Amino acid sequence: MWEVTAGDAAGTERLGELLGGLVRPGDVILLSGDLGAGKTTFTRGLARGAGVAEPVTSPTFTLLHEYAGRLPVYHFDLYRWPPGEDPAELGLPEYLYGDGVTVVEWPALLGRWTPEAYLGIDLRFAPAGRLLAVRGVGERGSILEEAFREAAGAAGTPAGTVRRGGGAGC
Ligand SMILES: Nc1ncnc2c1ncn2[C@@H]1O[C@H](COP(=O)(O)OP(=O)(O)OP(=O)(O)O)[C@@H](O)[C@H]1O
Ligand SMILES: [Mg+2]
Repeated sequence: MWEVTAGDAAGTERLGELLGGLVRPGDVILLSGDLGAGKTTFTRGLARGAGVAEPVTSPTFTLLHEYAGRLPVYHFDLYRWPPGEDPAELGLPEYLYGDGVTVVEWPALLGRWTPEAYLGIDLRFAPAGRLLAVRGVGERGSILEEAFREAAGAAGTPAGTVRRGGGAGC
């Protein structure tokens, strides 16, 4: 696990963009954090980094938006998904193991569909913007965690380098 601070929305987006340059078909990114923590902002950057040209908006009411980039980007927001309802009804398993990258806001609602491998990013309000905690689960999750850490570190900011267990950044 490593952490990075995003000083403003552009910083959150920039971090997402860096990750968007690293994702591959079948990757799953789970974005947790309170209302307004920056999940959609991060996804906007991720989509751009994955080559999506069109604007990314919140799928809060539609639950899913699909974008075409260098790979498909599937953006789920499960906030309004009724607890207890099976996300499989959204076709979620097919997306998760499909040909694109799947990004999920409010991933606690995935329940038994939570994949074995994913990159989890928890966004929190911080005095200087937002604190993002990045944790990879499973083999591909660990690879993405490390690759994202390197990319964020290489992108560097005057605030300092990205460190494990707490640091500053974009
Ligand atoms: N690092 C940051 N510092 C300050 N503001 C930020 C930062 N990142 C994002 N924001 C702002 O926070 C607000 C909420 O962002 P966003 O809609 O992405 O949150 P969300 O987690 O998707 O919310 P929801 O839970 O409603 O889906 C936006 O106005 C966005 O510009
Ligand atoms: Mg959102």
